[in-house]
Amino acid sequence: MGTKSLSLLLASVLVAYYVYTPVPENIEERWKLMLINAGFRTVAHVAEFAEWLGLVHYMEVLMMITSIEYTAPISDENVTITDTKFNNVPARLYVPRKQSSGLKRAVIYIHGGGWCVGGSAMEPYDLLSRWTANKLNAVVISVEYRLAPTYHFPVQFEDVYTVVKFFLQTSVLAQYGVDPNRICISGDSAGGNLAAAVVQQLLDDLEVKVKLKIQALLYPALQTLDLDLPSYKDNENMPILPKSLMVRFWSEYFTTDVSLKEAMASNRHVPAESSHLFRFVNWSNLLPKKFKKDHVYASPIYGSSRLGKKYPGFLDPRAAPLLVDDTKLLGLPVTYVLTCQHDVLRDDGIMYVSRLRKVGIEVIHDHIEDAIHGALMFITSPTDLALGHRVANKYIEWLNMNL
Ligand SMILES: *[C@@H]1O[C@H](CO)[C@@H](O)[C@H](O)[C@H]1NC(C)=O
Ligand SMILES: *[C@@H]1O[C@H](CO)[C@@H](O)[C@H](O)[C@H]1NC(C)=O
Repeated sequence: MGTKSLSLLLASVLVAYYVYTPVPENIEERWKLMLINAGFRTVAHVAEFAEWLGLVHYMEVLMMITSIEYTAPISDENVTITDTKFNNVPARLYVPRKQSSGLKRAVIYIHGGGWCVGGSAMEPYDLLSRWTANKLNAVVISVEYRLAPTYHFPVQFEDVYTVVKFFLQTSVLAQYGVDPNRICISGDSAGGNLAAAVVQQLLDDLEVKVKLKIQALLYPALQTLDLDLPSYKDNENMPILPKSLMVRFWSEYFTTDVSLKEAMASNRHVPAESSHLFRFVNWSNLLPKKFKKDHVYASPIYGSSRLGKKYPGFLDPRAAPLLVDDTKLLGLPVTYVLTCQHDVLRDDGIMYVSRLRKVGIEVIHDHIEDAIHGALMFITSPTDLALGHRVANKYIEWLNMNL
C-alpha cells in the first residue's frame, strides 16, 4: 500500500470516528442522522472555541444555522405569505388563497430553538406553516419573538403573549375571516414551552374573551427544577439536543451568568425555599412505569438561595408551566402532546400529560418510539429524514381532524 492510500485510509477512519455517534437501534436512516449530527456537533465545537477565545457569544455561532436556513416570504399558488407585525411584534403571516364561503380556522405557531436561536423564516418552519395553511385552509401566524442572549426571560414570553392577545380580538379575527371557535396555538420545543405558558396565563386575562380550542405541544420543555429526570439520564448524549445544550439553553433564557448554568448542570440550582415546587415535577408519581425503568427517585439537592433571588425566572410558571397548582390547569383547552422516546425533554411532556389528565383535561398523547428531539426540523433537503415527514404529517393530520 502506498503512502497516499494509507493516508486516505487513515483520513477515512478519522472522519468515520468523528461522524459515528451511538444512535438507538430503532432509528431509521442512521448514517444520515449521524452525518447531520456531526454537522451540529461541529458548529457546537466552533461555538465553544470562539467563545473560549472571547470572540463571540456561543449562541451567536449557533445562530448561523438559523441564518443559513433563512427563506424569504415567498407566496405560492395556494398561500399568500407576508412578514408583518402584530402590536409591534414581528410575525410571518400565511393566508390561504382558496376562496371559501365560511370562516377559516387559525393556528398560531411558536418556533423552537431554546429561546436563543431559530426563527419563523427558517426553511423547515416556513414549510411547516405553509403545509398547515394549505392542508387546513387556515390562517397561520408564526411569531418572531426576540431571543437570548440579547433578550432574556420574560421578553420571549411577553412577545408571544402580545401577538396572541392582539390576534384574539374579535375585530382582528373578523378582519382575517377567522372563526373564533376554531383557533389553535402550537409550538415545538422552546416554542411548546411558550405556547403552554401563554395558554395558562390567558386563563386569568379578563380582557381576552375568545377561548382557544386546542393547544398542540410538540416535544415541549416545561420545567427547570429537575434536570436529572430519567429522560435526561437516558438521552444525555442523544443527537441534536444533548443534555449540556439543553442546560445551556435553559440557563441562557434567564441570564448569561455562568453560575446558573453550572448550578443547573449539577442539578443544584433550586433553593430550599422553593422545595414545595418539587411535587409538581415528581417523576416518581407522574411517569408511567415504562419510562421510569430502573431509575431510582432521589430527593432533590438544594442550591444557594442567591441564584433563586437573582434569577427568579426559573421558578416562574411563565417559564416553567409545570410549576402551577392543579387549580390553574382547570379550564385549559383540549391538549395535543407529542413526545419523542430519545429526547431529554420526553418526561417534561409526559408529566404534563399526567397532570392534565388528573384534573380532567382532554389530552391526546402521541408518543413516537423511534424519534429524536427536533424531528420536525428535518423536512427540507438535504437534511430531511423520513422521520421528520412522518411526525409533521401526524401532527397536521390530527390538527386537521380536530381543529
Ligand atoms: C397547492 O395545493 C395543491 C392541492 O393541495 C397541491 O397539489 C400543490 O402542490 C400546492 N402547491 C404548493 C406550491 O404547495
Ligand atoms: C415524590 O414521590 C415519592 C413517591 O410517591 C415520595 O416518596 C417523595 O417524597 C416525593 N417527593 C417530593 C419532593 O414530592
